Amino acid sequence: MQKKLLSGMRPTGNLHLGHLVGALDNWIKLQEKFECFYMVADWHALMSEYEDPKNIEKNSIEMLADWISCGIDPKRSTVFVQSHVKEHLELDMVFSCFVPLPLLERNPTYKEQLREMSGRNLMTYGFLGYPVLQASDILVYRAQVVPVGIDQAAHLELTREIARKFNNLYGKLFPEPETLLTATPKLLGIDNRKMSKSFRNFITLSDNPHTIKKSVMAMITDPKKIRLDDIGHPQVCTVCNYYKVFAPEMSDEIFSTCSEGKRGCIKCKEALTDILIQRLEPIRRKREKLLDDKAALTDILRKGNEKARDITSQTMSEVRKKVGIFHDL
Ligand code: TRP
Repeated sequence: MQKKLLSGMRPTGNLHLGHLVGALDNWIKLQEKFECFYMVADWHALMSEYEDPKNIEKNSIEMLADWISCGIDPKRSTVFVQSHVKEHLELDMVFSCFVPLPLLERNPTYKEQLREMSGRNLMTYGFLGYPVLQASDILVYRAQVVPVGIDQAAHLELTREIARKFNNLYGKLFPEPETLLTATPKLLGIDNRKMSKSFRNFITLSDNPHTIKKSVMAMITDPKKIRLDDIGHPQVCTVCNYYKVFAPEMSDEIFSTCSEGKRGCIKCKEALTDILIQRLEPIRRKREKLLDDKAALTDILRKGNEKARDITSQTMSEVRKKVGIFHDL
C-alpha cells in the first residue's frame, strides 16, 4: 500500500514560476510514489480575501487548469475542493476545542503574515485558526506525508502536536504526518525582490511569449555591469539565477563568461526568454484548451470531492466514536 500524501494551495490568483518550481514540479513527481490528494484550499483563501472574495471560484477553476496542464493527473491523484468536503470543518471544530490559544498566537508564520499583509485586517478569529484547519485538512485523510515549503514547516509541527493531543485525549487515531520539505530553488521576482502580488513582479503560467519577453527584458541584472565587457557578478543577477533553475546545464558557463566580462546582459536575456517560452508555451496552450471546457473541469472536481468524502466520512465516524458524540444518527 502506498502512503497517503496531501497538499494544498490557496486559490488567490494566477500561479507563477515560483509555484511551478517551488511546489508543482514536485507534486507531479510525487504522484509516482504516493497516493496523492491535492486540495484547492478555498476556505484558507477566504480567510485573507474575505473583504473581496468574488474571484475565489474563478481562481479555483483556473488553478485546477494550471495543475493539470503542468502534469497533475486527476486519474491518478484526487483533486478536490476543501469547502465541498465538509468533514474538514467538522474535524476543525473538534480540534478547536482543545488547541490552546497561546500556541496559535505564538505561531511564527501567523506573526509574519500579520506583518506582511498589512493592507488587510487579519486580526480575526478565523485567521488565528488557520493552522488548525490546515491540521484538519491533513489529519482527516490520516495522511502520512505532506510536501510543503519551509514557510509551512511551523504549521506541520502544529499538526503533529494536534494529532498527539487528540490521540492522548481520546485514543489513538491519527498518524503524525511527516513534513516533506520541498528543496525549493530560490526564485526571486523579476525585480530581485520576493515574488509578491502587490509588486506584480513575476511571470505567470498563463503569460504569452510577448509578456514573457517583456518581463525578462525588465529583469534586474548586476547594477555594476553596464557594458558587455564589464565584469559581472552573476550571483546577484536575477537573470543568471533563473538560468540555475531553468537551464542548469548552461549555468556554469554563463556564470564564468559573465564574471570574465565576456557576456552581455541583452544576449543573456534573449536566451533566457527562449528557454522560458519553450517551457511555458505548452502549459499555456493546454491551460487555454482546458479552460474552454469548464464543465469538464468542474466534473473532475466533483469526482474528486466524492473520492475525498469516502475517506473523510470514515475518519469523522471514528472521531465521533472516540470522542463520544453521536455517530450513527
Ligand atoms: N497553508 C498552505 C499554503 O499557504 C495551503 C494549505 C492549506 C495546505 N491546507 C493545507 C498545505 C494542508 C498543505 C497541507 O501554502
